[in-house]
Amino acid sequence: MRFNGMTSQELRIKFLKFFESKGHTIIPSASLVPREENQSVLFTTAGMHPLVPYFFGKNHLGGKRIANSQKCIRTADIDDVGDNRHLTFFEMMGNWSFGDYFKKEAIEWSFEFLTGKEWLNMDPKRIYVTVFRGEDGIPCDDEAIEIWKNVFSKIGMNIRVAGKDEIMKNDIRIIPLGVDDNFWIAGETGPCGPDTEIFYDTRPEEGILEGNFSDFVKNFRLIEIWNNVFMEYEKKLKIKNAKLKIEEAKEYEYIKLKQRNVDTGMGLERTVAVLNGKETVFETDIFEPIFDAISKVCGKKYNENPEIKKAFRIIADHIKASAFIICDGVMPSNIGRGYVLRRLIRRAVRYSRTLELELNFKLIIDAIIDIYKVQYPELDLKSPEIIKAIRQEVDKFNKTLERGLKEFERTVSAVFGDTTMREEKDAREMAYDALKKISGKIAFDLYQTYGFPIEMIKELAREYGLAVDEIEFNIELEKHQEVSRKGAEVKFGGHGMEVESLKSKVENFEEIEKKKKLHTATHLLHQALRIILGVTVGQMGSDINSERLRFDFTFDRKMTPEEIKLVEELINEQIRKNLNVKYEEMLFEKAVHLGALAFFKEKYPDRVKVYSVGGFSKEVCGGPHVENTSEMGEFKIQKEESSSAGVRRIKAILR
Ligand code: SER
Repeated sequence: MRFNGMTSQELRIKFLKFFESKGHTIIPSASLVPREENQSVLFTTAGMHPLVPYFFGKNHLGGKRIANSQKCIRTADIDDVGDNRHLTFFEMMGNWSFGDYFKKEAIEWSFEFLTGKEWLNMDPKRIYVTVFRGEDGIPCDDEAIEIWKNVFSKIGMNIRVAGKDEIMKNDIRIIPLGVDDNFWIAGETGPCGPDTEIFYDTRPEEGILEGNFSDFVKNFRLIEIWNNVFMEYEKKLKIKNAKLKIEEAKEYEYIKLKQRNVDTGMGLERTVAVLNGKETVFETDIFEPIFDAISKVCGKKYNENPEIKKAFRIIADHIKASAFIICDGVMPSNIGRGYVLRRLIRRAVRYSRTLELELNFKLIIDAIIDIYKVQYPELDLKSPEIIKAIRQEVDKFNKTLERGLKEFERTVSAVFGDTTMREEKDAREMAYDALKKISGKIAFDLYQTYGFPIEMIKELAREYGLAVDEIEFNIELEKHQEVSRKGAEVKFGGHGMEVESLKSKVENFEEIEKKKKLHTATHLLHQALRIILGVTVGQMGSDINSERLRFDFTFDRKMTPEEIKLVEELINEQIRKNLNVKYEEMLFEKAVHLGALAFFKEKYPDRVKVYSVGGFSKEVCGGPHVENTSEMGEFKIQKEESSSAGVRRIKAILR
């Protein structure tokens, strides 16, 4: 299995050389770990991510025209790696204008690079583009449409722009689409703008494209290879007096940036694949030597059967991503980036079992470093550390993996009787099984005793068509964290915990009073977060001492300073309203019916107390709380940080 088409290194060099010839400075890839001031994501997920400050006008040492190939990690799809296209590690090549050239040059150069004889030499007839058709108060990108028409007409191609909802046929080559397809933004707020995406026809032999554009994208005949974003706006959350309804509290506006920027992204792996007529990113020079190494150590062949193929792909992608992550200074752990790294390595180890061999990861890492060392010399320099860190993690997990898997299987058959794997079941059986859940206690035991990341437990469960009770798992996890926390602090929020029992545990009455205030503040915070950030916010943990409250909640990015301010304002507004805090006892079902916030369902008894703070918050809780918000003082968030993957942590005080 030897690769003899255009290699990834050739493509990288061509791309960078081309833009160098257009006056761009070539810069190295930034770290996978975002810099201090830009910690809204765990890892660099797109080429633009490290460059955001320059869209706002910060001076780049390289000047106003930059080109690079940026390493990226996307973790949302880890469990999909194994199919034809998902990867966790990939490279994004890009050319950048910080307030310099704009649409005309960007589009013309894209076309020149793709079709130029000495560059990629693509047949222009295989190129289709989408543009922004206007939406959300932002106008249709007529300028980009005109430029594209000219570009094609210069080489004698008379092409047409699709009308609204018009299907593809004959000479239609420019397809205007809406905000969801052709307006690019990295998160909910930030620099953004309309884009034009360039697609490549991978199967021209199937004849003229006639039908819905989106169908050709879905069946992979048209593959997006390059995105040109015209960053000229900033999407901002408007500061206004927060109202109670989410829709009212959240309002966005688009503000023109002081300068017009260009951000382009061309996926290296995908482009290498299509240039070589391959259906999958795995059949390229970026993977084949890694597969050879895996083959050498396990004696199996990549193409032997689908199961083995999947294992090869997972091991190659995950170990590659792990090597790059370690190279940028992250070590396996149970939180944040370290946890993602741990998941990647452990998932690779689990799949190495499919190959019936304890894999020698050193040979595999060597193969990876060999592919990348020219572009990323740091990988080579740090290879001893990388190998050591991966080996340690592999050894650690190998010690418990076998027993853990046995335990998992034993549990499944003990609890559900039937351990038929998913493939052997029909749809009806599957639907029925999906209602069956592996209890959170069992999942926690696998996590705690055998080191199985929760995502791996879910993946294993899915293979049997089962689900995992994650809510209960989180309760167990939280309980465990409580126990291991130093000092016996009093935990608030559990049902049935009365002031009396608190008093016996905490000598100092004043301390109880302080904690009470912070406990009521926790309820206000919970509700305020759901109003400002949306109802996907859910409590994951809470801890109060006499100084501060700590609140963990589900949310997938850093809060913006505006959002933090909005939350504080909203809470202080409630405090100033001198709201009464009351509770009512009722059946748990009724509490839920009344819309009281309730978590950790299993933990509650039949009858519960529902605490309400005015009409603002309603939550199932054991108390204690203040009687009126006038007792509380001013609420202030001191810190907002990541707690673990998808979970944020706020520390706040009353002053
Ligand atoms: N920001 C755009 C993307 O990531 C273009 O680089 O797709």
